[in-house]
Amino acid sequence: MSAALEIRPFKPGDVEAVIELWKACQLVRPTNDPAKDIARKRNVRGDLLLVGLSEGRIVASAMVGYEGHRGWINYFAVSPLHRKRGVGRRMMEEAERRLRKEGCPKINLQVHSSNSEAVAFYKAIGFVQDDVLSFGKRLERDN
Ligand SMILES: CC(C)(COP(=O)(O)OP(=O)(O)OC[C@H]1O[C@@H](n2cnc3c(N)ncnc32)[C@H](O)[C@@H]1OP(=O)(O)O)[C@@H](O)C(=O)NCCC(=O)NCCS
Repeated sequence: MSAALEIRPFKPGDVEAVIELWKACQLVRPTNDPAKDIARKRNVRGDLLLVGLSEGRIVASAMVGYEGHRGWINYFAVSPLHRKRGVGRRMMEEAERRLRKEGCPKINLQVHSSNSEAVAFYKAIGFVQDDVLSFGKRLERDN
């Protein structure tokens, strides 16, 4: 288990640290502008953008959403230096706690099929692969 992990909602001063974390975790894609993604989330249940801090520094994030049917998790990240110590598990427990409080019955999330580490992580913490194809349609171009 890791040392004390504080989990709290994102604050405006966290932008830089969170984007650095996402870059270190290879979560920033050419199609997505992370600053725009943060700004959008702050407009829609910004309290569900969670950060995890160890010794005062941001080491983890989880962008949590609920649209009345399913809970969604995006930008789920643990800093490479803090992995395999239970930080991811604890971030997900907090996400689940907050979604349960909203009455959310199920969490969905998408993971690139090549991301074997994340797949192993989700299986280890009790997620089961759904028999679905994931479709998307871009409504706005970031770049
Ligand atoms: C996936 C990720 C969040 C895991 O975070 P973490 O803090 O290392 O995970 P934990 O230490 O809480 O691990 C929880 C369980 O998952 C397992 N696990 C974690 N990473 C694993 C890996 N790379 N391979 C196999 N199992 C793994 C752990 O062994 C542990 O299982 P156990 O409790 O039965 O021993 C982290 O590797 C990460 O940020 N990856 C890059 C970003 C990413 O891909 N995010 C997901 C986007 S969909």
